[in-house]
Amino acid sequence: MRSLINILELSAEEIAGLIATAEDIIADPKKYAEACHGKKLATLFFEPSTRTRLSFEAAMYELGGQVLGFSEAASSSAAKGESVSDTVKVVSCYADIIAMRHPKEGAPLVASMKADVPVINAGDGGHNHPTQTLADLLTIWREKGRFENLTIGLCGDLKFGRTVHSLIAAMSRYENVKFALVSPEELKLPSYIKKDILQRKGIPYTQTTDLESVMPELDVLYMTRVQRERFFNEDEYVRLKDSYILTPEKLKTAKESLSILHPLPRVNEISVAIDDDPRACYFKQALNGKYMRMALILKLLGVKV
Ligand code: NCD
Repeated sequence: MRSLINILELSAEEIAGLIATAEDIIADPKKYAEACHGKKLATLFFEPSTRTRLSFEAAMYELGGQVLGFSEAASSSAAKGESVSDTVKVVSCYADIIAMRHPKEGAPLVASMKADVPVINAGDGGHNHPTQTLADLLTIWREKGRFENLTIGLCGDLKFGRTVHSLIAAMSRYENVKFALVSPEELKLPSYIKKDILQRKGIPYTQTTDLESVMPELDVLYMTRVQRERFFNEDEYVRLKDSYILTPEKLKTAKESLSILHPLPRVNEISVAIDDDPRACYFKQALNGKYMRMALILKLLGVKV
């Protein structure tokens, strides 16, 4: 039985397989409409979410399965003091697969060691978010047709942004990928990721506070929100929250072929004036997330269509 806690647990070949399944689902959704008939997905969300939880739910419904769960810790037995381990032991009796989001880094890993069914990490604190990365990868694949030879700008909260951490890990396996890391000084990429991934693999990267200085080189620009809920100090959040606001003006020097991604929710990082720009991919990215979650559920449940 397999879980998905960190994106690197999937090989590049397996990612290619999930993309192939997702594209087959997009081409012929009816073929998959009963694939998970009689199976149940539990969504255990100890932290708020809209698209991740709803896209997991939509994914399971579109596979003909059913969904149960909770969307905040306050409405679960965690409020009574139950441990994550006990919660998943119990939920394993009711569901065939679990998607868990938790504010504590490592909680889904602990859950996967205790559960009797596969556990999918739907975001653990400021750590990882592998299924958002699957959405990002399908988007890059459909927009660019390749993962090699890309310069990827990551902009915003690179310290707490778990989607950034998982995306760097995933993209670092492809040939000739370069990163431009753009953030305020206070929100730089954690040094463990620089050391363990970028430096260890000799992947070229630049670090700057100035988005416009790197704009002309970028093939992909991944904007992120400043992660308010991970700050200890509200004043610090208020000071940093609008560090980057992408406007049509700032895109003037960007490539025609640039793809702009954002895991959403957006606060102020991308002006709504960009939504109609053909380079804006963030709403397509949200849809892609559903297809990749469908592909992942099929894989972890061992369902062949
Ligand atoms: C992201 C997350 O939860 O980390 N959202 C999502 O899953 N699409 C990004 C964010 O909350 O900023």
